[in-house]
Amino acid sequence: MNRSALITGITGQDGAYLAQLLLDKGYEVFGFVARRSSDTRWRLRELGIDSHVKFIYGDLVDESSIMRALKASRATELYNLAAQSFVATSWDQPVLTAEVDALGVLKCLEAIRELDTGVRFYQASTSEMFGLVRNQQQDESTVFHPRSPYGVAKLYGYWITVNYRESFGLHASNGILFNHESPLRGLEFVTRKVTDAVARIKLGKQTELRLGNIDARRDWGFAGDYVEAMWLMLQQDKSDDYVVATGETNTVRDMCRIAFEHVGLNLEDHLVIDSKLFRPAEVDILHGNPAKAKACLGWQPKTGLPDLVRMMVDADIRRVKSEG
Ligand code: NAP
Ligand code: GDD
Repeated sequence: MNRSALITGITGQDGAYLAQLLLDKGYEVFGFVARRSSDTRWRLRELGIDSHVKFIYGDLVDESSIMRALKASRATELYNLAAQSFVATSWDQPVLTAEVDALGVLKCLEAIRELDTGVRFYQASTSEMFGLVRNQQQDESTVFHPRSPYGVAKLYGYWITVNYRESFGLHASNGILFNHESPLRGLEFVTRKVTDAVARIKLGKQTELRLGNIDARRDWGFAGDYVEAMWLMLQQDKSDDYVVATGETNTVRDMCRIAFEHVGLNLEDHLVIDSKLFRPAEVDILHGNPAKAKACLGWQPKTGLPDLVRMMVDADIRRVKSEG
């Protein structure tokens, strides 16, 4: 059977790994890409798949472009990964964040509803929706209390996906993914900021690393493992919502230590705490319980934090060396 998928956010971390996974499975992969003034396809090139993806220009704020992309691709699966995904930026650009991360989801669902061709829909929901969590591990029944304009916008995306499933019978699933990282992570996120800095310090190109709240705890997994869960959700007869996490939680400080120790450096010799990098409201702890994804999807995380961090540091050392 010929299978085709349309991926919004294909130039991002998850989009690149998902495109690779689907190409390996024999899908025809279409990438919905926003027009930018400079090149955004470096991740697809790093994975060697740039020339295998068919690109369609569009933007999540423009519903007509989503409709056109669905028609042109004849996709049977739509993965909505596009977002303004950096939490800190969402306080500076809250309206844009809502336009893309909240209304953009509605626009995808409306296009699917209008076309009525049975396209299956994946929504990139997030553990940021849990926000101010109490002490237990978070699962699909945990109460939401988002702490940022990003989390609030994503919560709308989550509920409108549930609502269109319940109202119109769409095959629409939410993956509630906890933080996941990789060598393709953007430099603004803390793990990559750290591994890039470690590489530069080791190679004598930088001396300090400035961070904000290093006591925050996150449940960090590997993006390459997590895109498999996205695909599995759309292969189920019934759509549903799933937490995807490792079940382990660590502080930013723990993560930093692994990175520095990997290259024989001492974190305390280089770390500077910068109050400007603290957020107006913080998510202190995320700790997921992926039992449902394990039981219903047969999904398992394969990569623990130490291996993930070492993989990222090694990739950054190679990159920094190649800069000359
Ligand atoms: P990312 O690397 O920041 O990628 C975001 C993607 O969205 C990029 O391809 C970007 O395109 C695209 N995009 C942004 N605004 C757009 C618009 N208006 N129209 C079309 N495309 C637009 O994010 P990621 O880490 O891969 O995450 C993928 C999704 O999962 C996001 O929705 C994120 O919120 C969600 N999520 C991520 C995590 C995580 O830990 N990574 C956890 C839970 C949920 P450009 O390249 O042109 O900017
Ligand atoms: N980015 C960043 N930079 N974060 C820092 C820094 C710093 O210099 N110093 C401390 N942190 C702390 C943040 O305050 C936060 O508590 C934690 O490190 C993780 O920050 P990010 O890596 O920026 O990720 P995030 O948890 O805010 O959001 C990511 O995960 C969400 C899922 O829980 C993003 O990928 C979101 O798109 C995703 O939804």
